[in-house]
Amino acid sequence: MNIVVISGTPRRTGKTRIAARLVAEQLGADLIDLSELHLPLFNGEKEQDEWPEVQQLRQKTEWADAFVWLSPEYHNGISASLKNALEFLDGDTFRHKPILLLAVAGGGKGGINTLNQMRTVARGLYALVIPEQFVFDPDCFTEIGGLSEEAYEQISRILSEFNRYLFIKS
Ligand SMILES: Cc1cc2nc3c(=O)[nH]c(=O)nc-3n(C[C@H](O)[C@H](O)[C@H](O)COP(=O)(O)O)c2cc1C
Repeated sequence: MNIVVISGTPRRTGKTRIAARLVAEQLGADLIDLSELHLPLFNGEKEQDEWPEVQQLRQKTEWADAFVWLSPEYHNGISASLKNALEFLDGDTFRHKPILLLAVAGGGKGGINTLNQMRTVARGLYALVIPEQFVFDPDCFTEIGGLSEEAYEQISRILSEFNRYLFIKS
């Protein structure tokens, strides 16, 4: 089972990277970190197919059986870097494949808009988004760059739920 985790923060200091790394470790998944993979802004021109970063994104996702998408919430929505990365992919990459959606927000009940937007986008790519989802608030993270015990327990429970959907293969 080849699972790919996409970390949607553009920020090298982003908390989304912390969550994405932990999730990838727990799942034994490949990680695509969009703060390191510097994709061009999608413009639909053929020449972008030759960009090494675009090729790397497509190669890493081509054989995936399932995905986890993580996006920070920026201005009530999905990060531009995640959305931009998805423009380089299409329904063939995601069709019939389970996806777990995770948001990272600033607190104050943020994150739900991002989860809903990701769900809508995933629908456009024919993916099978699982019902469970999670928002990482600032208090989910420790000062030394880990997850709080409570957040760790919550995400572990969600990941075992996700595992139950992984028998679905295209
Ligand atoms: C440009 C910008 C806009 C933001 N807008 C929101 C928001 O609408 N709702 C929210 O809950 N948090 C918002 N935040 C806080 C981020 O969600 C929070 O800092 C989170 O850690 C972002 O993930 P990151 O650290 O991986 O970038 C915003 C942060 C930035 C930088």
